[in-house]
Amino acid sequence: GHYDNGGYEHYLLKEISEQPDTVARTLRGRLDDRFHIAHLGGLNMDPRESRSFRRVKIIGCGSAYYSGQIGAQLIEELARIPADAEPASEFRYRSPVVEADTLYIAISQSGETYDTLAAVQELKRKGGRVLGIVNTVGSAIARECDGGVYLHAGPEVSVASTKAFTSTAVAFALIALHLGRVRDLSPADGRRICDGLRKLPEQIKEILTQEEHIRTLAMKYADAPGMMFVGRVRGYPVAREGAQKLKEISYVHAEAYPASELKHGPLALISPELPTVAIVPDDELLDKNLTTLGEIRAREGRILMVGHRTADAADDCIVVPKNETELDPILLTIPLQIFAYHAAVALGRDVDRPRNLAKSVTVE
Ligand code: G6P
Repeated sequence: GHYDNGGYEHYLLKEISEQPDTVARTLRGRLDDRFHIAHLGGLNMDPRESRSFRRVKIIGCGSAYYSGQIGAQLIEELARIPADAEPASEFRYRSPVVEADTLYIAISQSGETYDTLAAVQELKRKGGRVLGIVNTVGSAIARECDGGVYLHAGPEVSVASTKAFTSTAVAFALIALHLGRVRDLSPADGRRICDGLRKLPEQIKEILTQEEHIRTLAMKYADAPGMMFVGRVRGYPVAREGAQKLKEISYVHAEAYPASELKHGPLALISPELPTVAIVPDDELLDKNLTTLGEIRAREGRILMVGHRTADAADDCIVVPKNETELDPILLTIPLQIFAYHAAVALGRDVDRPRNLAKSVTVE
């Protein structure tokens, strides 16, 4: 389609900049101040059904899969239901065991990704209950699912996903709040999450004001032959998405690892030629992450830290506003989008239409 680029040089920058608004649209009308719950009529589920699931399995491709990893953590933390994410492509090829008490959630911005659609169809054939988190209303995946949540993020044109990614994470927070509040999540914790979600648009605006600082850092690091992205637990899907954004649009090799796994292999790669982007939120893992930074530094690795404070062990820092710990991954992702964008621009890449990639892969 032909959409207005709103005066921005690239759709990607437009879509990054829209996020205060797109996140607000995903939330609109869905938070209940009296009971601290989420209204998600599209799930088509009564409370008894919502309580019946013993497991959640999330599928999607590319960035949708990484946002699903954030979603799995939100559901485990807030609803205390075992949850995990898997690439839809892998899922459908391995003849998955489909269980009646598992809730399946398929994620797709376009709603047309063939691997995800085929996985949903296979699930349906086997009697699985499938919800969709989809941006495009009336798309193939949306029609195939039993219910779901629309993102309302508006058309995403640039091949690399940005606003759909953050809105998907927000949709997962709403689903996790819903599943949590029909289980053991207290009204007080429900309120804490509702209040945190409401703060997101303003906090995203604050991150966007740091564009010039992040651009300077992107130019500083863009000539490295590769970059390592690390994070622990909530920071790990953020690291994966940050690496994905960088490789998709700048063609700089980027690898994401759990920070805890560095010492089991990739630490051998660390040198001044391979800088690390470290996702270091102020959570219960802060001290462990700072220790990891020390280990990288001891190998003369350069470090760009993204978190809620600055640290001496890092060469450079991007500080984002703090939200509730469970919601922090949403905000931590945004500077990495801006970083990848400016790295791609600095390297003269075709930002909105990177080589070899398609916005939606509708073939096998
Ligand atoms: C393609 C795009 C990715 C996207 C993935 C899933 O590979 O290049 O940016 O994350 O498809 O797309 P979907 O529309 O299903 O979210």
